[in-house]
Amino acid sequence: MQKIKEYVEANQQRFLEELFDLLRFPSVSADPKYAADVRNAAEYVAQKLRDAGGNNVEIYPTAGHPIVYGEKIIDASKPTVLVYGHYDVQPPDPLELWETPPFEPTVRDGKIFARGACDDKGQFYMHIKAFELMQATGTLACNVKFMIEGEEEVGSDNLGTFVKANKERLAADVVLISDTAMISLDTPSLETGLRGLSYVEVEVTGPNRDLHSGVYGGAVANPITILTKLIASLHDENNRITIPGFYDDVAELSDAERKALNEAPFNEDEYKQDLGVKALWGEKGYTTIERTGIRPTLEVNGIWGGYIGKGAKTVLPSKASAKISMRLVPNQDSDTITALFTKHFERIAPDYVSVKVTPHHGGQPAVTPTDSVAYRAAEQAIEEAFGKKPIPTRGGGSIPIVSLFENELGLKTVLMGFGLDSDNLHSPNEKYDIANYFKGIETIPLFHKYFAELS
Ligand code: BES
Ligand code: MN
Ligand code: MN
Repeated sequence: MQKIKEYVEANQQRFLEELFDLLRFPSVSADPKYAADVRNAAEYVAQKLRDAGGNNVEIYPTAGHPIVYGEKIIDASKPTVLVYGHYDVQPPDPLELWETPPFEPTVRDGKIFARGACDDKGQFYMHIKAFELMQATGTLACNVKFMIEGEEEVGSDNLGTFVKANKERLAADVVLISDTAMISLDTPSLETGLRGLSYVEVEVTGPNRDLHSGVYGGAVANPITILTKLIASLHDENNRITIPGFYDDVAELSDAERKALNEAPFNEDEYKQDLGVKALWGEKGYTTIERTGIRPTLEVNGIWGGYIGKGAKTVLPSKASAKISMRLVPNQDSDTITALFTKHFERIAPDYVSVKVTPHHGGQPAVTPTDSVAYRAAEQAIEEAFGKKPIPTRGGGSIPIVSLFENELGLKTVLMGFGLDSDNLHSPNEKYDIANYFKGIETIPLFHKYFAELS
C-alpha cells in the first residue's frame, strides 16, 4: 500500500494532465458530426495503453465506433482480469447551462468539471494508470486485458458482435468495471446490480397537416393533448405502471434482502435539498433506495410537437412525439417489455389519432454475485484503501453489456465504481472528484493483488 501511495503521489500531476487531454476530445457517440473526435479519442487511449506497457494494443473498427483492445499476459497460470470501460460520452447539451465549457476540463473545489469526467473517462483511465503503476513497480499480480469501447452511450450494439467473434481473445476469470457510483469516500460501497432498459419513441398523428387552431380547433383532436393523456395514463394513482403484464417477471426480494438494502445510509432531506424538490415521488410501498434499485420504472425523456419558436403561433399540430424509457430489473426481458409497451400503447390510442411506436436500443438487467472470489477481492481492496468495508448497493443505471459478458463469455462482473450519484452524469457540469480519481488508482492494484491471492 505504501509503494502504491508513493507512486501515485509522485505522478499526480501527470495523471491529471493525461486525463484532461482525454477529456478534451469531444467523443460524443450519438452525433455523427463528432465521428473524427471519437476516433481521435480511441487513438489516444490506445497510445496510453501502449505507453503503460500494454501488448497487442489495437484499435478494432466496427460498423460504428472503434474498440480499443490491449493486454498484458504475465503468466498463463495466473488469473486474468478483463477491464471494460467506454471512452464515448453523452452529448453535452444544453450547452448554456455549463459553467465552463464541457470539453475544457476545469478544476473547481477539488473537482474536475467536464463531459465524461466521471462517465466514464475519469473512471476507466484509473485502470490504465493503475496498470502503469503495477508495471512500473513490478507488482502486476494478474494477467490483464483491456476492452474500451466507443458506443456504450448508444447501446453497445457493435460490441456484442466483437465479443461474440473474439471469445478466445477475451477469455478471462472476471470482468472489472469502474462505471458506477459509490455512496461517498467516507462510506464506500459496491454496486451489485444494474437495471436493464427498454427505450422507445412514440409518434401520435392527428389531422394530415397542421391546422389553423381557430378554424379547426374544437372539432379535431389535438395530438399533443392526446399524447399527454396517453402518457399520464401510464402510471396509476399509486405510481405503478399500468401496462398489462409489465410486472409479471419482476423478481421480488425477500424481506431480509429488502431490509439489508435499506440499511445503506440515506438522508432523505439532503437528497431532496440537493435536487431542489419539496417532496419525493415513486411507487407506493417502496423506499427511495428500492425505487431506484430494485423496482422497474417508466420515464418520459423528451416530448415535442407544435410550435415552440419565439412568440405565438396559433396552430393545431398534425403530430406529437415523445421518447420513453423503461428501467428493468431481474428477471424482466427488454424485448418482452418493448413488445408489451407497443401493444398497450396501440390499444389505448383513441380513434382520433394513429400512433407509431419505434424501438431504440435496450439492455438486460444484471445482478453481480457477492459470494465470489472477485467480490471478496474488491471488498478487501476497498477496505484496505478506504479503511472501511464497502456496503453492497443496487444501482439504478444500466450497462447493457454486463449481461452479455455473462451469456457470451460466461464471466461475472465486479462493479467497482468510484463516482457519486451527484456527479451530474449526462447533465450539465458533470464532475469527478480528484480525490476519487486518485483513490481509485490506489484501490485497483489492491484488487489485482487480492484477486490473485484468493483465486
Ligand atoms: N455509467 C452509466 C451507467 C450507470 C451510471 C450505472 C450510474 C450505475 C450508476 C452508463 O454510461 C450509462 O449511462 N448507461 C445508459 C444506458 C445506455 C444503453 C445508454 C443509462 O443507464 O442510461
Ligand atoms: Mn458509463
Ligand atoms: Mn452514461
